[in-house]
Amino acid sequence: MQFAETHRLKMLFKGTLAVILLSGILPTYTKESRSHVSVILLGATGDLAQKYLWQSLFQLYVDEATHGHTFTFYGAGQKALELGRKLMFDRLKKLACSPEVPPNRCAVLKDQFLKLTEYHQLQRAEDYASLSQAIKTTLAQEDLVETGRIFYLSVPPFAYAEIARHINSSCRPPSGAWLRVVLEKPFGHDLGSAQQLADELASVFREEELYRVDHYLGKQAVAHILPFRDQNRRHLDPLWNRHHVERVEIVLKETVDAKNRTEFYEKYGVLRDMHQNHLTEILMSLAMELPANITSSEDILRSKLGTFARLRSLEKTSAVIGQYEAYSAHVREELQKGRDYFTRTPTFAGVLVHLDNLRWEGVPFVLVSGKALDERVSYVRVLFKNRAHCIQMESAWDPEHSRCKPRQVIFYIGHGELNSPAVLVSHNLFKPAMPHGGWKEVLDRPQLRLWGQSLSDYHVYVPVTERDSYSFLLSAIYHGKKESFITTEDLLASWVFWTPLLDQLSHESPRLYPGGQENGHLLDFEMDGKEVAFVARETLEVIDAEEKHTADRFQTLLSTFRESPLITAWADELVGRLASDIEAAAVSAVGRSGEFHLALSGGSSPLALFRQLSGHHYGFPWGQTHLWLVDERCVPLADPESNFGHLHQHLLQHIRIPYFNIHPMPVHLNRRLCVEDDRGPELYANEIGALVANSSFDLVVLGMGVDGHTASLFPRSAGLEGDRDVVFTESPVKPHQRMSVTLPLINKAKRVLILVMGKSKHDIVTVVSRAGNEPQKWPVSGVKLRDGQISWYVDYEALLG
Ligand SMILES: *[C@@H]1O[C@H](CO)[C@@H](O)[C@H](O)[C@H]1NC(C)=O
Ligand SMILES: *[C@@H]1O[C@H](CO)[C@@H](O)[C@H](O)[C@H]1NC(C)=O
Ligand SMILES: *[C@@H]1O[C@H](CO)[C@@H](O)[C@H](O)[C@H]1NC(C)=O
Ligand SMILES: *[C@@H]1O[C@H](CO)[C@@H](O)[C@H](O)[C@H]1NC(C)=O
Repeated sequence: MQFAETHRLKMLFKGTLAVILLSGILPTYTKESRSHVSVILLGATGDLAQKYLWQSLFQLYVDEATHGHTFTFYGAGQKALELGRKLMFDRLKKLACSPEVPPNRCAVLKDQFLKLTEYHQLQRAEDYASLSQAIKTTLAQEDLVETGRIFYLSVPPFAYAEIARHINSSCRPPSGAWLRVVLEKPFGHDLGSAQQLADELASVFREEELYRVDHYLGKQAVAHILPFRDQNRRHLDPLWNRHHVERVEIVLKETVDAKNRTEFYEKYGVLRDMHQNHLTEILMSLAMELPANITSSEDILRSKLGTFARLRSLEKTSAVIGQYEAYSAHVREELQKGRDYFTRTPTFAGVLVHLDNLRWEGVPFVLVSGKALDERVSYVRVLFKNRAHCIQMESAWDPEHSRCKPRQVIFYIGHGELNSPAVLVSHNLFKPAMPHGGWKEVLDRPQLRLWGQSLSDYHVYVPVTERDSYSFLLSAIYHGKKESFITTEDLLASWVFWTPLLDQLSHESPRLYPGGQENGHLLDFEMDGKEVAFVARETLEVIDAEEKHTADRFQTLLSTFRESPLITAWADELVGRLASDIEAAAVSAVGRSGEFHLALSGGSSPLALFRQLSGHHYGFPWGQTHLWLVDERCVPLADPESNFGHLHQHLLQHIRIPYFNIHPMPVHLNRRLCVEDDRGPELYANEIGALVANSSFDLVVLGMGVDGHTASLFPRSAGLEGDRDVVFTESPVKPHQRMSVTLPLINKAKRVLILVMGKSKHDIVTVVSRAGNEPQKWPVSGVKLRDGQISWYVDYEALLG
C-alpha cells in the first residue's frame, strides 16, 4: 500500500478525515501537498470570537479539509477550564454551514470540528508551556507533522506584548514549520505608541510572522478594488486620474452609538477607530499606483508606501468633527464621572484628503464615518467629471448611451438599501470585466435609486456567494497571502499621516448632533479648496463679530511704526491682507514693466503667507513673476530645513510659475555646502544683477527674529553694510551657516513688507519701535529704503503681547 493510503486509513481511524469520504473525493495525496496546522484562538470566549471567529475557523476547516489538509483547534483564554470550555462549546454547537451543504453532511462536519477542538486556560508562563506540550502530544498521537501554527490574538492590545513573549519563548512550532501571529486593531493610539508596540512585537516575531488584521480589507467589495482596477485597466487607464475624477467618497456610516463601549471609545474616538485604519486602507486601494503584480504583497506595500508619501499633510481645517448628544452622558454613566463632565471625543468626522502627485493632484478624497447616524451603510463612490452638455430632453435619454447622466463607479461594501456587497458601474462609462465565478450581474430592482441614478443605469454585480470578511482573511492567513494585511511600515506611515491632525483636534469642540434621522442636515459639510466646513453654520458668529469690531478700532488707532505704515490684525486676517497687498503690487509691477521681482524670506511666519497665496490668489500673475530668496540655510535644497524646500512645499507646488523664473540661492555647489571658494554669494548677486534692473527688487518680504535679525542678517554679522549684495553669515541657532542678501541690497528695493507675528515677538517689537538706526545691534532697524516704502505687518499678539 502506498504511503498516502496507509496514512489516510490511520487518520480515518482517528476520525480526523471522515470528511473526505463523505464528500466522495478520494484523491491520492502526496506528503507535500497535505498539511497539518494548529490554530490557537486566544480570547476564545470573547465577543469577536463568538460573533465571527469560530464561524470563520469552521469555514476554513470545511474548505481546507476537503483538500486533505488537517487541523487541530485550541480555544484559549483567561477563564478557568470548566467555564471556558462550557462557554466555548455552547458557541460551537451553533456553528452553521453554508446553504449549499446538505444538513446531514453539515452535522458530520460540525461533529468533526468539535472533536478537533479543545479549550485551554492561558494565564501564566506555565500555561503556555503546557499548551505547547499538549500540541506536541496530539501531533505525536496522530502521527502528524505540523506544517504551521496560527495564533489568533483576539484580546485587548495591552496584553499583546506579554502574550507575544510567551509565544516566542514556549510556543514556537518545531523548526521547519511556520508561525503566524494574528492581531486585531487598535495598533496604538498615535505614532509613538504604535511605534512602541511595533518595536515590542519586532523583538519577538519576524515581520513575515505578523498578520495585522484590518477586517475591512476582507470585505468582498473592498477586497475587489485592486482586482477590479487590474482587470479593467483598459478602461480605467485613461480615466483613473485628476483629469477625469471629480471626487472620491469613502463612507462608513453606523446607526449604533458607543453605549457600553465608552471605555474603549473615549481613548480612541472615530478618527482612530475608523479613519486611521479602515478608511485609510480603502483610500490606499483606490489611490495607489497599480502594482505590476497585484497578488504580490511586496509590490502592494511598495505602492502603498509611495502613496502615503504623497498625502498632503492635514490641517485642522481639513476636518469637521461631531459628537452625538448623549455621548457625554454615556461616558459619565459608564466611567463614573461627575455631573458636569464633558468630553471632546468625536463620534463623527468628515476629513478631506488630497494627494500631491500627478495622478490625483486637486482631486478631493472625502473620508466620512460616524456613530448614531441616520443609516447604516458603507461604500466607496468614485464620481467622474462629466463634460457632456445634452440638448435632448431628459425623458428621451437612453440609459445605455446617455452621456448626460452621472458617471460613477461604486464599491458597495454593505448594508444600506442594497444590503449586499456590490460593484456598480454607470452604463455610460463601460461594461466592466468581472472575474467569472466570483461575481454575477443582477438586473432586478430597477426602481431602486442610488446616487441620483436608478439601478438600471448601472451595471450591477454582486458576489455569487457572500462571504464574511473573517473567513476571507483566515483563508489568506492559512495560505500565507499577506497582501490583505497591514505591515509595520504601512501602519506607521498611516500614523505619521494622522497623528498631527489628532493632536490639533484634541482641543477642538465637536459639533453636537442629536443622532439618527433627527440629524437632518446638521452634519452636511462642504469643501472649499483645501478646507471643509459644516454647511449649516453655528450661532457663534455674534462673539466673532464683536472681536472683529475691536480689531477694526486697533487698525485705525496704530497706523505708523518706525515712521512707516503699520497694518495690524489677528494673524489670519493679517496674512490675508499681506497676500492681497502683494498681489496688488505684482499686478501693478507687471503692468508697468512686464515683470515682478519678488524676494521672499524663510522661517515659519511666511508659511501661512505661502498657503494664502497658493490657496486664494488665483489672479496672481505668476507667469511674469520672478521669485528670489532673501536668505537660505546651508543645507541641500531638499532638506526639511531648507527655506527653498518650504517655499517649494507650500507655494511652488501649487502654482504655475515658469521654472526659469525661480531663483534658489546656490548654497550647494560642487557637491559641498557654502564653501567660500565656490563663490555662491557672487553667483547669486550676478544673477540678480543680470535679471533685475538696477538690482532693485519690486518687493521684498522680510520677517524679524526675537533678536531683531532680518533675512539672515544677525547682530554684528556680515552684510549689514559694505558694497556686497549677497554674503555668507553665521546664525546663533542651527543650522548655523546661512546665505543672505545684504542690507544695502534690500535698501535698493522699491518696497519692503515686514511681517511679524506671535507673542514671542512682543519684546523685540517694543524695543524696535523705539530704536533708532542701529543695524549692528538690531539689524532690522537698518532697513531704510533709498527710494521706496516700508510697511509693517504686525499681528495683535506681537504688538500687544
Ligand atoms: C524569543 O525566544 C528565544 C528562544 O526561547 C529566546 O532566546 C529569546 O530571548 C526570545 N526573545 C525575546 C525578545 O524574548
Ligand atoms: C449594555 O449592557 C447592558 C448590561 O450589560 C445590556 O443590558 C444592554 O443591552 C447593553 N446595550 C447595548 C446597546 O449593547
Ligand atoms: C505575483 O506574485 C505572486 C506572489 O508573490 C507570485 O506567486 C506570482 O508568480 C507573481 N506573478 C507574476 C506574474 O509575477
Ligand atoms: C535704474 O537707475 C537709474 C539711475 O538711477 C534710473 O534712472 C532708472 O529708472 C532705474 N531703473 C529702474 C527700473 O529702477
